[in-house]
Amino acid sequence: MTQFIATLVMLCSLLLGGCSQPNKPSLYQQLGGAEGIAAITDGLLYEIEHDQRIVHHFADTDIERFRRLLAEQLCELSGGPCVYSGGTMQQSHSSFNISLADYDALVDGLIKVMQRQNISISAQNQLLALLAPMYKDISYR
Ligand code: HEM
Repeated sequence: MTQFIATLVMLCSLLLGGCSQPNKPSLYQQLGGAEGIAAITDGLLYEIEHDQRIVHHFADTDIERFRRLLAEQLCELSGGPCVYSGGTMQQSHSSFNISLADYDALVDGLIKVMQRQNISISAQNQLLALLAPMYKDISYR
């Protein structure tokens, strides 16, 4: 009888253990940490550079600064150990007349890069969901 109860307790704890969330990796970790985010940022810069729909917006941009701030922002947003030190999305984009089509083009590029880096669909969607509310501050129509 004692053995039966002990087995039952062990089975229950195994079952409960199986159901609980085992240390789920943060989005930052799922994106590959600092290295992964640096690669996403560089990949996105490449996509922008080769996208005739939007590259003109960046004609006068200090690309090194943009790279640093975008990486910082993606790191902070995804729960990494960074503090974004750039301007608000509204301040930084208000003079560029960015359209919904421009926004979609940039997001297309980001998705391509994440696919190339084998980021899971779930992590891609989590990041896109965090970026989506910024649309209203970035695009004017
Ligand atoms: C999810 C969408 C976006 C995010 C998270 C984002 C993020 C950023 C960040 C962090 C900066 C640097 C801010 C600073 O200079 O202090 C920036 C600047 C900039 N963004 Fe975006 N951006 C987004 C969409 C877009 C789109 C759709 C365009 C145009 C197609 C765009 C064009 C620019 C340009 C041209 C700059 C540089 C501004 C300058 O030269 O001072 N961004 N963006």
